[in-house]
Amino acid sequence: MPILGIETLLYGVEDLDECTRFFDDFGLPQHARTDGMTHYRLEEGSNVVLRLLDDPALPKGFKDKGVKEITWGVDTQESLDALADRLEAHQEVTRGDDGVVRTKAPSGMNVALKLWSRKKVTYAPDPVNAPGHVKRLNVQRKWKTRARPKIITHTVYTVPSPKEEFEWYRDMLNFRMSEEQIGMGFYLRCDGANEHHNLFLINMNFGPLPGYPVFHHTNFGVEDIDELMVGTNYMTRRGWETGALGSGRHRIASALFSYIESPAGGEAEYGADSDYIDDNWIPREWNQVFATYSWMHKIPQFLGTDQKWQYRLHPSYVPNGAGDSEWEE
Ligand SMILES: [Fe+2]
Repeated sequence: MPILGIETLLYGVEDLDECTRFFDDFGLPQHARTDGMTHYRLEEGSNVVLRLLDDPALPKGFKDKGVKEITWGVDTQESLDALADRLEAHQEVTRGDDGVVRTKAPSGMNVALKLWSRKKVTYAPDPVNAPGHVKRLNVQRKWKTRARPKIITHTVYTVPSPKEEFEWYRDMLNFRMSEEQIGMGFYLRCDGANEHHNLFLINMNFGPLPGYPVFHHTNFGVEDIDELMVGTNYMTRRGWETGALGSGRHRIASALFSYIESPAGGEAEYGADSDYIDDNWIPREWNQVFATYSWMHKIPQFLGTDQKWQYRLHPSYVPNGAGDSEWEE
């Protein structure tokens, strides 16, 4: 019953013009605009829709601005019906005339399911040179002037119980655990996707988070580090602020990141060069700070000291106990 990825993120925003300017600058391709709505469509066919917070078309849910509904794209009508039947056996579900199935996750996040044909997009980053490993001889790298995100890689929100929320996605929608970041939350992957994660569920009581469920950020995939940093430079030249972690490489997922503070709530993240995984992947358990970065261009003080190399196969996924699962420190 494969779910292929994020089909639509529906945002509730306070200032539609400002948020439209933000995502235009960020590089999302605008698909439609009306007085009360801006609609972006990415190359893979996924969508970002912005509506004002008091728009009756927004479902009730998390009180703050940000993503109000996540629509997951499902591969076939048969799969969609099977998932809807399973959900309906456990909780309230609505089936719209448009074929969209709607329900809520335990945190209250609105979750929808829709038939979707996710278009495969293919890019070819420039080969990388290293001493003795010359992959570009007499060839320059491509020059870029703007970022143009290709895919919605993942979205993130905070929850009272990451474990309960993860188990719901696992048991109701067949999501896989990719990793657990101890004290922080769970990284999940759709059963029909190979991105390292399509969803990250964060403990709402962690650190500076507000202590209630709230949207956190969305990751938009670009081709490579050049597109990621060119996009970041363009955003700061246009007056937008970089996020709390700035740019760098996470150790979890090996992913390059660059966060920009978003007027639509939380942050928007450019992402590149992440790990891709399938069902052969064994989830890991990670020390919080160790997982967060291999390097960053500016390390916040709260991440600066605790760099214990704690990392192991997740005990829940190691056959016959913890034999292969000692901490590597
Ligand atoms: Fe992210």
